[in-house]
Amino acid sequence: MFDDTLLAEIRARFAHVDTCPLTGPRVFFENAGGALTLKSVVDSSALYAAIPDNQGRDNPASRALVEVIDRARQDVRLFFNATGGAVIVGESGTELLFRLVRDACTGAAPGGIVLGSTVEHPASRGACTRWADETGREYVQVPHDDATGQVTADAYAAHVTPETRVATILHTSPVTGMANDLDAIAAAIRGKAPDAFIIVDGIQHASHGRIDLSGADVDGYVISPYKVFSRHGYGIAWASDRLTALRHDTLPDGPAQNWEQGTRDTGAYATFSDVVAYLDWLGGRVGDAGDVRARIEAAGAAIAEHESALTQAMMNGTDNLPGLRALPGVGIVGGADNPAREGLVCFWLDHVESAHIVEALNEAGIRTHIRRADHYSGTILKPLGRADCVRVSLCHYNSLAEVRAFLDAMRGIAAR
Ligand SMILES: Cc1ncc(COP(=O)(O)O)c(C=O)c1O
Repeated sequence: MFDDTLLAEIRARFAHVDTCPLTGPRVFFENAGGALTLKSVVDSSALYAAIPDNQGRDNPASRALVEVIDRARQDVRLFFNATGGAVIVGESGTELLFRLVRDACTGAAPGGIVLGSTVEHPASRGACTRWADETGREYVQVPHDDATGQVTADAYAAHVTPETRVATILHTSPVTGMANDLDAIAAAIRGKAPDAFIIVDGIQHASHGRIDLSGADVDGYVISPYKVFSRHGYGIAWASDRLTALRHDTLPDGPAQNWEQGTRDTGAYATFSDVVAYLDWLGGRVGDAGDVRARIEAAGAAIAEHESALTQAMMNGTDNLPGLRALPGVGIVGGADNPAREGLVCFWLDHVESAHIVEALNEAGIRTHIRRADHYSGTILKPLGRADCVRVSLCHYNSLAEVRAFLDAMRGIAAR
């Protein structure tokens, strides 16, 4: 776990850490709905929003904006550890998943199947449902394991066929909280379908550190920057050279391999450079010097370690406070002892409604979220026989004191 001094330095870099500007003091355990925003991101947003110049003009301001965009593309590559390919800024993570899946489906060889899994968010499932249908293919969903909240490489291996044209993988689930073994799943797909276009939803994983596309043989990786310390209003994807070589929507006589349409919001790109600069700083505080990528990796490892210590405390208790697993009538999605967990716990109590738990936690100044068996979470909750559950999601800037406040409130709620 980070020591108090470093945690204070980390928290000082984020806006609204312990106070909501709308409701007052609160503990923020709704990070899977949108992480805290770096103060540097707020500053960059204001700076670039006020600049009237457009890109591609023969003046110094315009050239400076283009440099900011070019630098951000390099920073995204460092963040993903991806070489070559294209960095794409789109409307949102969902929109980019749809776009990558669409262009992969329309550009792939005819026939075959589109492969995904039941643990995926409806963004990728929806994209595959539509574009498998539009291109005359079957959409096959690999079943996930209800007990662990994960989908495995073996499960993919049992469903992948040599005619798999497009495949999607969820890196981490925002409902179970578990990471899937991206490298192994991609290898299982490539083992039978070497030419498949593999597209990854990394939206929930991104804030928890350790994206490394150098070890994952994939064609696309999508994130939502507001879930990784930046802000709303844009999504980011990396697409491989072969995916980029397929046909996209493009301007007549414009560059054929250009994924992006229209004038860019320089501020969006600048704010992702802020995220990378933050991880660079954090990596320097926790690890040895090295290059920027080494520091991003050091930051990722430290983030994972801190979050793991917090979720262990949440599960097993701390000081004299009982952990979640000790509460009467508790159920925990994916099990209490799951090493794949990334800073997120979904649970229920048999005798207290989830909506009531969220409300009571709100009254105690602790923000969490209900997940229902709807089109977002139904594929995960329905097989468990659950209509809903409570999601508690943390990030590396959360503290043990905040976990204590949560467990203290939960002890009272469970005793009702
Ligand atoms: C795993 C995953 N995929 C996709 C999405 C959709 O992302 P967005 O709403 O940012 O487009 C989310 C949002 O919660 C998510 O967690």
